[in-house]
Amino acid sequence: MSIYEVPARVREGSPNPMTSLDSYNDLAERVSADPDAYWVAETCKRVSWRTEPTQGVGSSFDDIAEHAITWFADGTLNATESCLDRHLETRGDKVAILWEGDDVSEGLSWTYKELHEQVCLFSNAMKARGIVKGDRVLIYMGMVPEAAVAMLACARIGAIHSVVFGGFSADSLRSRAVDCRATAVITQDFGMRGGKRIELKRVSDQALIGLDSVHTVFVYKRTEDNVDMQAGRDHWWHEAIADESPDCPAEIVDAEHPLFILYTSGSTGKPKGQVHTHGGYITWTSYTHQHVFDLREDDVYACVADVGWITGHSYIVYGPLANGATTLMFESIPTYPDAGRYWDMVERHKISIFYTAPTAIRALAAQGDHFVTRYDRSSLRVLGTVGEPINPDAWEWYHRVVGEGRCNIVDTWWQTETGGICISPIAPATPTKPGSATLPVPGIEPVLRDAEGQILNGEAEGLLCIRRPWPGMSRTIWGDHDRYVDTYFSMFPGAYFTGDGCRRDADGYHWITGRVDDVINVSGHRMGTAEFESALVHHNAVAEAGVVGFPHPIKGQGVYCYIVLAEGHDQSETLERDLQNMLRSHIGAHARVDLYQVVPGLPKTRSGKVMRRILRKVAEGQPDALGDISTLADPTVVEAIIAGARSLD
Ligand code: PRX
Repeated sequence: MSIYEVPARVREGSPNPMTSLDSYNDLAERVSADPDAYWVAETCKRVSWRTEPTQGVGSSFDDIAEHAITWFADGTLNATESCLDRHLETRGDKVAILWEGDDVSEGLSWTYKELHEQVCLFSNAMKARGIVKGDRVLIYMGMVPEAAVAMLACARIGAIHSVVFGGFSADSLRSRAVDCRATAVITQDFGMRGGKRIELKRVSDQALIGLDSVHTVFVYKRTEDNVDMQAGRDHWWHEAIADESPDCPAEIVDAEHPLFILYTSGSTGKPKGQVHTHGGYITWTSYTHQHVFDLREDDVYACVADVGWITGHSYIVYGPLANGATTLMFESIPTYPDAGRYWDMVERHKISIFYTAPTAIRALAAQGDHFVTRYDRSSLRVLGTVGEPINPDAWEWYHRVVGEGRCNIVDTWWQTETGGICISPIAPATPTKPGSATLPVPGIEPVLRDAEGQILNGEAEGLLCIRRPWPGMSRTIWGDHDRYVDTYFSMFPGAYFTGDGCRRDADGYHWITGRVDDVINVSGHRMGTAEFESALVHHNAVAEAGVVGFPHPIKGQGVYCYIVLAEGHDQSETLERDLQNMLRSHIGAHARVDLYQVVPGLPKTRSGKVMRRILRKVAEGQPDALGDISTLADPTVVEAIIAGARSLD
């Protein structure tokens, strides 16, 4: 198996305390010996505190049911002072946000001074409409710089934002608004993506029908087209800020005050609102962004995710801005106007750190190298991936073709719950192996366990847990701490269970094998199979639905759906289209089934539990590996399922 040493260009001149495996190991040992001392010193160095904390972690995983984890609990701050105010003197004229619009001809850049002013203007506009500390505000926008302003303005006044990805449906937006009892929504007239318009305002209007907790809607005007505005409730962004002051002192909050809620899918039930806090989250995103990518003062940093997901929160907005970096926001898609868009951007903006998802790498590699090689990529130094396991072929292509062998690849493993990167190479320190997320970030102590909970040492494959709290972890699920404890801490008491499988090799390198629960990861989008199933049974032709993931050459995982038709309904040509519409309206446009199979029944045990293992194995094309099926109520169902199995070709 190939091991790539860190290219000289990545190591040379690095300001990183970790520039070799030895210095990485030394630091990791130091952190693990006394995490409190290390993190208190680190946060005081990198975060603007009003009252510097003296306490590290409060509570432990052993009594998490009674006491939520805290970090730096005696400190006070506002995260936006670390992202904005702190840079005004030294980096006021440095570009903070570089925006690349959907159309190549559209773009702008804001310096730290300009971004600070925009945030203050909008913070004051929110205050003027009665939004106060602790209020929940939904943000339903595309990738415009105002989305970052909206997030920071909420944070600045102590309100708690909850960004909802612009592809989600009205139902999904509504259920989030209900769950957190939002009082305001920030949206825009239309989103622009790949030359298409996304009707953000119309969908928000639909979501808010009859929802009286929401008293205010701000609408950023992206296009010249008209949208309906509801008098009294809706305000144009540009009008709302017109008479406001460009100065808005930050609301100083306790370290553990929630910064945001971000909903993410789990194996069961509705999406969970992960709560991240001002103190720990800003410490963790700033630390990991700086060290993993080896940030330098003149870097142009581009993460092409969307702020609707955690990657956008941590590594487009909060981490980079806390570090005073120039961060790019990209409104479009990788194939618009053609598959060279990313590399065209790299050449035009002289991007030195580029961060994307394996699904994009696979899709672009399939289009041919000429889309890459026609652009100058000599500015690139670090290439990152996130969101799903990267197959060695895609990794090699990224390394060889995009990076011309001169860049280090950082395959970063983490989750919405972890707040920031947890297992990843440190760019100037860690030799890489294609497909491995390599080693834990200092402060993270991964452990592998078998299904019985035994800790596996040395070379092993098992369930990935993290043994000790770290500053960036989510503290709870909004409004439901029991569910948080039950989901992450009941399987292996005393440890955080990630939901992922992982192999550790003889060098201690980690190879994430994917989710071991009913969460699927399609093109880096995390979705719960239960959400698909409950949406599909709304269709009157569907008696039951069973949804599982299967390996997909571009998307990582595809969605395979077994349908049991209701009495009196036959399979018809339009059924799949109707079901797709059902998913679109219940979840969002990104929730698509790749393969449908109508079956006479789902394989159930005599006690009525669906044996999902059978559904998975058949969808994965392994009908010979079903294991013990003797407890099935009706084994003939399995024969029919195998006989009618579908595949992509
Ligand atoms: O299965 C892992 C996968 O994405 C899941 C987390 O999804 P989400 O909360 O949406 O966050 C995605 C962005 C951080 C994980 O449980 N995952 C994430 N990064 C990797 C990964 N799988 C393998 N390798 C990675 N680098």
